[in-house]
Amino acid sequence: LSCRDVKVRAGDASYEVLIGTGLLADVGSLSRNVLVPPPRRILLVADTGLPDATRDRVAGSLESAGFGTHSVCAIATEREKSIQSFQRLHVEAARFGIDRGDALVALGGGIVGDLTGFVAATHRRGVRVIQCPTTLLAMVDASVGGKTGVNLQADGMLLKNFVGSFHQPERVIASVEVLESLDERQFRSGLAECIKHTMIAGELDPTLGDWTRDNLNAILSRQDGVLIELIARNVAIKASIVASDEHETAATGGRALLNLGHTFAHAIETIDTLTPDGDPGNAPLLHGEAVALGLVAAASAARQMKLVSNEFVRTTIEMVADAKLPTQISHLPDTGQILDRMTHDKKALGGVMRAVLPIGPGQCKTVETPPLDALRCGIDSIRA
Ligand code: GLY
Repeated sequence: LSCRDVKVRAGDASYEVLIGTGLLADVGSLSRNVLVPPPRRILLVADTGLPDATRDRVAGSLESAGFGTHSVCAIATEREKSIQSFQRLHVEAARFGIDRGDALVALGGGIVGDLTGFVAATHRRGVRVIQCPTTLLAMVDASVGGKTGVNLQADGMLLKNFVGSFHQPERVIASVEVLESLDERQFRSGLAECIKHTMIAGELDPTLGDWTRDNLNAILSRQDGVLIELIARNVAIKASIVASDEHETAATGGRALLNLGHTFAHAIETIDTLTPDGDPGNAPLLHGEAVALGLVAAASAARQMKLVSNEFVRTTIEMVADAKLPTQISHLPDTGQILDRMTHDKKALGGVMRAVLPIGPGQCKTVETPPLDALRCGIDSIRA
């Protein structure tokens, strides 16, 4: 299978996202190509959820390329995406002797990538980082675009990504065979971000929605070729949006469009008691599952504001359900409480909430201070 290469330009940074199979055994040489001058040492931060063999393959490849390599691990949960983990990794980096010319490699899902990226952004005021995403979500979204950070525990709430910075990687290496062993829920979670991209792609890729729908079975059965195409097309959308507004400062639209569904999602994904099927024995909602619910809520809120039709809402729900993602959830706290959590979201600018709402197929817009009754309608639409 051929390897795809999508270019990302963000401010002064310019890098490639490589998407293919069997790339992990070559992370060393693929890093050496772009780390100029070469680092002496590389700290590899690996997700504890990965098979040891995967971590060892990457560590071995870095060593073979001549880098002094030390591996540490990080636990991929929202609670562990914390200031404490950030501090621990800085200490590990300092003990290993990482200096300004050295580099970090993140090997894992979005949580490990964001955490490692933030350590790289700040260790000795910044070292280079290579992202090796191992989940679909990290491949199509989190590893690209330079957002890094950790959650903040405050006032009994987990404030998502409250502490962080923009730090673009030197290269992103996505090797799709690692997705074969990815847990089913984790895999579908990544599809939520792909559905999000179909809802904002517009002229950037007008056929992405139809292509994704037509290839859903091949995607769900994780065929390498179709996954490479899926990831390349999704990364291309993200790359264009990031290039136009790296720091999310555009007055309207811009990078904020990538937050479609996220204002709702952030309000519910940190409630530990919520599970996708309501069974308290199951693991809490994953980020992508919350985004899936957030997409449905955003479509319903937009319908209430007469921005889209009932048919649009139905199509959105159908796409989410076909990807085997939740469209409704039981045991949701009362709507007022969810609204309070939404206003705490970091995307509330200076106290003004900015929501991203669809206005038609492939098109969204940012809306400042959306009417509360529309937000309520969105929340109620996902209540089972
Ligand atoms: N995941 C949203 C962004 O990178 O802006």
